[in-house]
Amino acid sequence: MSKVRVLSFAVSVDGFGAGPRQDLQNPLGVRGPELMEWFFNTRAWRSMHGQEGGETGVDNGMAERGFAGIGAWILGRNMFGPVRGPWPDESWRGWWGEEPPYHVPVFVLTHHRRAPLRMAGGTEFRFVTEGIEAALAQAKEAAGGRDVRIGGGVATIRQYLQARLIDELHLAIRPVLMGAGERFWDGIDLSSLDYECAEAVPGERAYHLFLRRRGALS
Ligand SMILES: NC(=O)c1ccc[n+]([C@@H]2O[C@H](COP(=O)([O-])OP(=O)(O)OC[C@H]3O[C@@H](n4cnc5c(N)ncnc54)[C@H](OP(=O)(O)O)[C@@H]3O)[C@@H](O)[C@H]2O)c1
Repeated sequence: MSKVRVLSFAVSVDGFGAGPRQDLQNPLGVRGPELMEWFFNTRAWRSMHGQEGGETGVDNGMAERGFAGIGAWILGRNMFGPVRGPWPDESWRGWWGEEPPYHVPVFVLTHHRRAPLRMAGGTEFRFVTEGIEAALAQAKEAAGGRDVRIGGGVATIRQYLQARLIDELHLAIRPVLMGAGERFWDGIDLSSLDYECAEAVPGERAYHLFLRRRGALS
């Protein structure tokens, strides 16, 4: 059965999932790349960017696992780009160039309507203004029995967690102190939401923690 997964989501030791002040020059917020350093060195990341080589250890295995069996993605509008408010035009097409690394339908949560955007390589961005449950229903249908990955960012994952709609949450805990940015854990009681720590694996540059909702993955 199709599962709802957060995979390879990086969080600093002090609980930030993105740096502050995201803009065109800082897609992950200021100092955000420090969160993703575990991913940048992997073969998975390099091959996504048409490059050879890269490390093939634990972190790479986790990154590759993050793309296996995914039939649709859900992103928040800020993960899609730095544009805020009503779309001024159709010119923003995501951070990833003309061939984004998704290759399946990607549902972007936003309050501002926009026509779907078909990219090279099978990615289609579809903008959903009816909220998280509508986006999930559309993503599940599009995934055709494969899993739905909630890609981020922080605000998006937090909403799905609080609604108990995430079956599995893989966090790459990074040994950095951000001090500021988007807070991941504030006000979330994972124990009451029925999650348990199911797996913990040390990698080269991150500690991989898998949380599962009780009874969700059998
Ligand atoms: N740590 C990681 O592994 C990781 C992974 C992915 C992304 N990131 C980073 O996370 C940051 C983005 O996170 P974020 O928390 O700022 O934002 P986000 O979750 O990406 O997007 C939030 C925005 O999405 C729209 N939205 C969210 N929920 C909605 C709903 N229920 N209905 C309608 N619209 C909704 C709203 O935009 P509008 O109201 O403007 O339409 C909202 O302001 C970026 O810096 C990104 O690079 C980190």
